Amino acid sequence: MDRRDFVAALGGSPLFFHAGLSASSAGQATAGTGSLARLRDANRAVAGSSPEAVAEDEAYWLRVRQAFTLDANHVNLNSGSVSPAPRVVSEAMQRYWTLTNMAPSYYVDELLYPEVELVRRRLAAMFGCSPEELALTRNTSESLQTVQLGWPLERGDEIVSTTQDYPRMLTAWRQRERRDGVRLKLVTVPTPPPSMDALYDRIFAAVTPRTKVIHICHMTYTVGQIFPVRRIADEARRRGILSIVDGGHTFAQFPFTRDDLGCDVYGSSLHKWLCAPVGNGLLYVRRPLIARIWPLLAAEAAQDDDIRKFESIGTYPIALRTAVSDAVLFHEEIGAERKAARLRFLRERWMRAVEPLPGVTLRTSYDPAQACALGAMSLAGMGAQRLTDTLQRRWGIHVRPRFVPDEFECIRVTPNVFTTLDEIDLFVEAIRTLATA
Ligand SMILES: Cc1ncc(COP(=O)(O)O)c(C=O)c1O
Repeated sequence: MDRRDFVAALGGSPLFFHAGLSASSAGQATAGTGSLARLRDANRAVAGSSPEAVAEDEAYWLRVRQAFTLDANHVNLNSGSVSPAPRVVSEAMQRYWTLTNMAPSYYVDELLYPEVELVRRRLAAMFGCSPEELALTRNTSESLQTVQLGWPLERGDEIVSTTQDYPRMLTAWRQRERRDGVRLKLVTVPTPPPSMDALYDRIFAAVTPRTKVIHICHMTYTVGQIFPVRRIADEARRRGILSIVDGGHTFAQFPFTRDDLGCDVYGSSLHKWLCAPVGNGLLYVRRPLIARIWPLLAAEAAQDDDIRKFESIGTYPIALRTAVSDAVLFHEEIGAERKAARLRFLRERWMRAVEPLPGVTLRTSYDPAQACALGAMSLAGMGAQRLTDTLQRRWGIHVRPRFVPDEFECIRVTPNVFTTLDEIDLFVEAIRTLATA
């Protein structure tokens, strides 16, 4: 299917098919489209192989790596915070930016804004929801705070979350505590837990008749623990409790759909695992709930029921948003199953290698249902900050320290599709050197 067919299939007007898009579909040679073509060749070579077999095929992943513009002197094991965008995405963004500057009020208002609807439909198709339930935002923080600050609550109402939810999200609830007299109850969760059921049990042990919201991570930012979202969301709905899921880390990291989660609200950042330009996010709200949530920036009453009311933020750089479609195409070119299998393979490789070393504690499960790319560990006698700094200074390896006050600290190690086995093995050697010094 070429782009014109795709636009038609999405129900879009041919008017959307403007100069910026036709430049690439007409075969205009760019480094990005070249790398995509090489990736397509690599896909042909592995057609018929299982995702697990391709996960171990270094030649394949080298092709993927070549689609990025990376610093080869830097071992980036922190794709958890933000991912680089592949060349094909940054070039798309550059094209849209050029168009913007050719005559912003015409090219942006008349041509690019309508394209945002195509981005919405692509993302909704990926997530398995209606486009009328999906708002485009700047990041997870904006997505979730829209709901956290806009959901009606009364003095004394309770919100249940965990000490490993993202600090900015907890800050939003604490502000509502001060402003509205609600109460935030945080539960601790073991890392790793004995089972996923243990996570469910911890959450519901804190729920009371006053609980109005359960706010959990799909995958924690601390150690990469995946939560049993479906089970928690189903029970929350049965009890009339709003379920908010922080999917900052999960959209496009591994395959799942809205129906696998069953939650009321889900927010994610597209600059993490979708590798979209920095400054893109999505917010899903279950259709009947849209009208009950006040937007962060005011909207007219006529928009009460319209998911787009959450997007009324004024003028913004639309070139960032329109290039999301190119990130979706890149993601689909690799394939969601293949990508997840590779990420799990890389994490498991370093975890198995460092686990027997003296002083190493792993904080992430080996169970594929509970973890994907992110893994966390600590080293006895070396705090997380010192370990992070030492890895950077001595080996040029970049990881993230994570601190859960009064509970534990660790380093979070996050490979991506461009990570090589050599880089993983260098990390293992570095930990071995420090652990046996
Ligand atoms: C679980 C989780 N939620 C929310 C966020 C916030 O993401 P953003 O800064 O893109 O809004 C992060 C960032 O790392 C995260 O890990």
